[in-house]
Amino acid sequence: MLKKISALNKPLKGEITIPSDKSISHRAVMFSSIAEGECVVRNFSSGADCHSTLNLFKQLGVNIHFLDDKTLKIISDGSLKPTDPNISTYNCGNSGTTMRLVSGILAGQNFNSALIGDESLSKRPMKRVIEPLKLMGADITSVDGHAPLTIKGQPLKGITHPSKLASAQVKSCILLAGLNAEGETTFIEPYVSRDHTERLFKYLGANIKVDGTKVTVKPSQLIARDIDIVGDISSAAFFIVAGLIVKDSDFVIKNVGINPTRSGILDIIDRMGGGVSIINQKEVSGELCADLRVEYNDSLKGCIIEGSDIPRLIDELPVIAVLASQANGDTVVKNAEDLRNKESDRIKCLVEELSKIGVDIEETPDGFIVHGKKSLKGNAKLECYHDHRLAMSFYIAGLICQNEIGINGFEWTKISFPEFENLISILN
Ligand code: S3P
Repeated sequence: MLKKISALNKPLKGEITIPSDKSISHRAVMFSSIAEGECVVRNFSSGADCHSTLNLFKQLGVNIHFLDDKTLKIISDGSLKPTDPNISTYNCGNSGTTMRLVSGILAGQNFNSALIGDESLSKRPMKRVIEPLKLMGADITSVDGHAPLTIKGQPLKGITHPSKLASAQVKSCILLAGLNAEGETTFIEPYVSRDHTERLFKYLGANIKVDGTKVTVKPSQLIARDIDIVGDISSAAFFIVAGLIVKDSDFVIKNVGINPTRSGILDIIDRMGGGVSIINQKEVSGELCADLRVEYNDSLKGCIIEGSDIPRLIDELPVIAVLASQANGDTVVKNAEDLRNKESDRIKCLVEELSKIGVDIEETPDGFIVHGKKSLKGNAKLECYHDHRLAMSFYIAGLICQNEIGINGFEWTKISFPEFENLISILN
């Protein structure tokens, strides 16, 4: 679907509530499915990725049903029993989080399974989970490190795994395998990545210890508890950037998760000169949450984003590039080479497409450099390469372009954020 966007030419005002966090929604279903007991999960994501996880656990025999469009009831005795022994292939759709985390759960079961995904997911690297799982005793075959993954359930043993990558998906996969392995499992990462798994494991009673970048889990049975899911800061990021760059905007985004391992974008905005204030902070099911007031800022300045910043804002980098185009001076993003392994090669695609509308942006091996501040001419058709975050980032850029832009493949926004356009219309 080709989406056309023209300059807004008026400020964004009012109040919106940001929908459910995708990372926490996946984990809420996965962990409640292997927990013993009944629970209610409130504010579940309506994105297609989280529905891939939901359908997969239904096929794995877990009793899951909707009480309303965002509320789930999950009943489990803690074990997985595939509903149809002839169906052992589970479809993860476009979702890397589903495939990588679920492989950690399936590796230690007493049945065999296979995980498949769509064309984009089938190109994404899976060695990062296969290799450590094999060290735990898992029997997994892949197509040269890519899906389909064929998993023969095996008893697993704990390992200590120093990871080269700061990846919450790899960490969560290994910790999930560790719940069901003999002995202790320790995962050490170079920088702290999002810690939703650690928080939810604690909340559900797992034996887990966190010491900086080192997390250790001992075999544990999770115990079901009701879970309320906070709003997604990665979805809020599109609105935050829109508010900072669309002249005279001033609005409130309610119910945003501000877990410190996810809120790197807020620190970067402070570094660039500010414009977002945090109000009404509270804790919800082990996660921090707040309302954010966003105000237009005409005097943002470029900054360096690197090292431990990266895992705390990895999914926000495409829209941060749009923000950087409206900041004075250079914004340099380094150490973000894993952006090339997302739903698209987000470095190459971002640079190619944003350049078409007048963003002065250069590709580097591990990131990009944006030279600001430039007025954007628009007048181009952009490809989103089946990547939901690129599609929404381009839409935000379109709000300040002098001429109309088109975004090809805009329907991919449904992967994470079907409510996106409706929320934009509420603010203008
Ligand atoms: C996620 C972790 C990140 C992120 C992805 C969701 C998660 O991936 O990009 O959108 O829910 O654990 P990596 O772990 O590959 O960095």
